[in-house]
Amino acid sequence: MVPVTKKREYKDDYPDKTLYLPGPTEVRADVIEAMCEPMFGHRMDRMTDLYTTIVEDTKEFLGTDNDVIVLSASGTEFWEASTLNLVDENVLCPTSGSFSERQANVAERLGKDVDRIEYEWGKAIKPEDVREALEASETGYDAVTVVMNETSTGVRNPIEKIGDVVAEYPDTYFVVDAISALGGDYVDIEAHDIDVIFTSVQKAFAMPPGLAVCVVSDDAYEREVGKESASWYGGFQRCLDYYDRKGQTHSTPAIPLMLAYRKQMKHMLEEGHDARDRRHREMAEYTREWAREHFGLFPEEGYRSRTVSCIENTRGIDVAETIETVSEEYDMVFSNGYGDISEKTFRIGHMGEHDLESIRALTDAIEDVADL
Ligand SMILES: Cc1ncc(COP(=O)(O)O)c(C=O)c1O
Repeated sequence: MVPVTKKREYKDDYPDKTLYLPGPTEVRADVIEAMCEPMFGHRMDRMTDLYTTIVEDTKEFLGTDNDVIVLSASGTEFWEASTLNLVDENVLCPTSGSFSERQANVAERLGKDVDRIEYEWGKAIKPEDVREALEASETGYDAVTVVMNETSTGVRNPIEKIGDVVAEYPDTYFVVDAISALGGDYVDIEAHDIDVIFTSVQKAFAMPPGLAVCVVSDDAYEREVGKESASWYGGFQRCLDYYDRKGQTHSTPAIPLMLAYRKQMKHMLEEGHDARDRRHREMAEYTREWAREHFGLFPEEGYRSRTVSCIENTRGIDVAETIETVSEEYDMVFSNGYGDISEKTFRIGHMGEHDLESIRALTDAIEDVADL
């Protein structure tokens, strides 16, 4: 292969920027500091204390009795693992944006038969379409996969109603990518029969990237146990049995990240998921109001995300230049649109530790730079 990428030496003097990206997002200073501990071994009792603390605290925060895995990986790992652990052949993947398309692509790369329900970007996945596809299928589906919060379009899909539909098909498992939602948008996992739901910690959990969290139902665990082949690294059985026996992870985890996780999860528990959910709603409502006043909103009415707003660039501002100038003059970074809609839209991540005041500081800066 002809080398294309050249080394660009990392420097020691980058200015700090406030992140309004749809992840990674701002991390509290004491959470960053929590990583600076002398190292310890992943088979020491201290590790059991750390790992059992973060797993049990996560269950408490999410309000679930299902099992929790915290794995050193980005969230993408659980696209692969949930497909390998649950799907023999057929999987239904409704697609409505870049991440759901990628999730369907992952299942295809793993050799599965993928049926899509394709929506225009910006539209939400409708439970009645999922029902229709389930009814029409002659073979049935091993799983239905849905992205809760389409980070590329700012759509919040109605996973609760979709879960209630999938629950009518006991041989079909319901897999939810809640990356960019969990921690800022509450979902009652058991009430809607969600078998597998996962997130990445650099989003609304507001932690440094590098860990993925997956909540697994008993049914999903049993399904994997009965399957001939499954994921090794992300195997539910391997991860959860190791937890039951030792309170540790099956291989060496990113210990400093878990120390940061412990610290941040305590902050999250202190705030509580109700208050956290409320704060995210307020930020989302404010951002939408601001967007309506100056631009438009890209996602379908009634399905707008609580953690990321995808704003339609109705004024035709130069998105790339505005982002650059806001970054240079205000040290704040927000995001362009995704893929084909990179100039047609831009995105503000209002997740994690942000509040109304910090979001207002960004919209003020955009108003100033774009002369609104
Ligand atoms: C909805 C969604 N799914 C999957 C991913 C991939 O997550 P990760 O980069 O943590 O693997 C992202 C990342 O932005 C996302 O927003």
